[in-house]
Amino acid sequence: MNIQAILNDEIKKAMIAAGAGSEVEALVRQSNKIQFGDYQANGIMGAAKKLGINPREFAQTVLDHLSIDDIAEKLEIAGPGFINIFLKNEWISKHANQANISRTLGVNAAQNDTVVVDYSSPNVAKEMHVGHLRSTIIGDSVVRTLEFLGNTVIRANHVGDWGTQFGMLIAYLEKVQNDDVKDLDLSDLEAFYRAAKHAYDSDEAFAKKSRNYVVKLQSGDEYCLTMWRKLVDITMAQCQHTYDRLNVTLTRDDTMGESLYNPMLPSIVQTLKDKGLAVEDDGAVVVFLDEFTNKAGDPMGVIIQKKDGGYLYTTTDIAAAAYRYHTLHADRVILFTDARQTLHAQQAWLITRKAGFVPDEFVMEHFTFGMMLGKDGKPFKTRTGGTVKLADLLDEAIERATTLIEQKKSRS
Ligand code: ARG
Repeated sequence: MNIQAILNDEIKKAMIAAGAGSEVEALVRQSNKIQFGDYQANGIMGAAKKLGINPREFAQTVLDHLSIDDIAEKLEIAGPGFINIFLKNEWISKHANQANISRTLGVNAAQNDTVVVDYSSPNVAKEMHVGHLRSTIIGDSVVRTLEFLGNTVIRANHVGDWGTQFGMLIAYLEKVQNDDVKDLDLSDLEAFYRAAKHAYDSDEAFAKKSRNYVVKLQSGDEYCLTMWRKLVDITMAQCQHTYDRLNVTLTRDDTMGESLYNPMLPSIVQTLKDKGLAVEDDGAVVVFLDEFTNKAGDPMGVIIQKKDGGYLYTTTDIAAAAYRYHTLHADRVILFTDARQTLHAQQAWLITRKAGFVPDEFVMEHFTFGMMLGKDGKPFKTRTGGTVKLADLLDEAIERATTLIEQKKSRS
């Protein structure tokens, strides 16, 4: 029972009845703001543009063909042609009640989907920061709930463990090892990253070596791979410590980092080219999406391969979606990140669907949360302006809680 998929289906049908082609996408998503309803359909503008008609008029025709009175309290056309959907309270309560009663907490474990939950997902050689806290905690709570309900859950820790920065990091790890810094203090990964970056920016010979190491790493050079693995291991050991402290169920076996998808990327790009979805543009490979427009009103270009041959975050997420369907045999994917990655996920998944890498019934849901803000309403930083390490935040929480408890004890 997936309401987003149902609404998507119904609106797509109405769009087709209203004259759109069968390949049309309703793009139903959760609304960001409560005043825009519970869900919104974002696909009207793109479809109307294709048909050469006014989007608001097309939206009206779609509404005329839509009968979801049992689900929706109110449907309204907003802005340039969004359809806002307000769910009916009776519908929500009816479905909540249908969760059958059983012995365990009154919940019937009757679901049996295979669900991939993509959560936590920190980055190698960068410590987990407060921003990863929500993805980790919300993700793990959802994982436990879905498992409790009977689903098979695959935890996917989509760790940022690949990219051009690894040349620099490997070169720096080598430097630190050669300088024989006795107890190579990688407990402070942030400092390690900063120092590597500083060496890269200030030392031309170091920068040259770094660039050479990226190429070597990408072509499977044993030495570079060993050094890379060291960086991944150190990072993941620190993350594991944090997961254990937080009583989060993630283990090292749940790591499915970006590097996993690396071997699939050339064929993903090739398929997108073969299908005419991707084109060469100024040396790069780009997918232009009618569904999203840039400031000038032109279809938005999403780069999937850079001029220098490198792949991007989007390309990896397209491969991940296909892998989760074809290899992991998932029915559903749930992704947790902060709201700044909304457009990214929409684009990656739209390309995935347009290319037919996954079938329509494969459910992909992105749940977002806001950023961690300080008292000043700005992103949460340390006094010196740095990112707050999650480990430090936990230390402080424990310290403060201990003080409180001790104060209470001494009073009683
Ligand atoms: N590593 C990313 C970050 O720290 C999050 C990855 C989320 N998952 C994904 N499939 N894109 O922001």
